[in-house]
Amino acid sequence: RGQTPTIVAIDGPAGSGKSSVSRATARKLGFGYLDTGAAYRALAWHVTDSGLDRENADAVRGSLTHFDYSIGLNPDHVTVTVNGTDVTAAIRTPETSAAVSAVARVPEVREYLTNLFRSIVASSELPGVIVEGRDITTVVFADAPVRILLTADESVRAARRGAELIGAVSAAAESVTDSVVDQTADQIRARDAADSKVVDFMNAAEGVEVVDSTALNFDETVDAVITVIRAATVKE
Ligand code: DC
Repeated sequence: RGQTPTIVAIDGPAGSGKSSVSRATARKLGFGYLDTGAAYRALAWHVTDSGLDRENADAVRGSLTHFDYSIGLNPDHVTVTVNGTDVTAAIRTPETSAAVSAVARVPEVREYLTNLFRSIVASSELPGVIVEGRDITTVVFADAPVRILLTADESVRAARRGAELIGAVSAAAESVTDSVVDQTADQIRARDAADSKVVDFMNAAEGVEVVDSTALNFDETVDAVITVIRAATVKE
């Protein structure tokens, strides 16, 4: 015991398939999975739930003192809680998605969550952890043995997100229009534009491997990621 897990850092824009690809990869390798975006979303939820103005950086900073956050590392069962409340579903709503960029640009928030991610990983007793987000390859685990930027053309990302949304809506037996896809594309563009002002996740930093999934299906993308992990860990 006491051995530090092998860290696989994966960054990429919204809709790149990062979370599902990271989860499937973790499952295949018997690794843990840490979704760092969930913490930014949970804080956005917390700020809103506390009735605070998310545009007020002082209020956002202050909200960290009453932010008791937990997340599981099991790729098959990710539960997120804030102060004991299960917010796993609440952090995925369009309202939370729209609120998250404002809290994510506060430097003290980034510092606080970065430390939190490092301690969650350090205290895990797993052989490895796939850590996924926007600044994992460049800040949170910049010295990880495996660092990957997962990208896809914007039109492909929008189509994938749109398909996900249509699936969710038709499961609820409601009608869907083609404009769902366009709306999703606009939301993705807006969020990526806001987020990339804070962290560059569109260009690979030195030593970061790019996996472009534009022409790959899901399984092929997972295989490409596993190939990069194997190549990098065999070298050691
Ligand atoms: O991956 P996601 O869409 O769930 O991320 C939610 C938001 O959190 C995203 O808009 C940007 C922010 N984020 C960040 O700033 N740094 C990270 N490491 C992960 C997410």
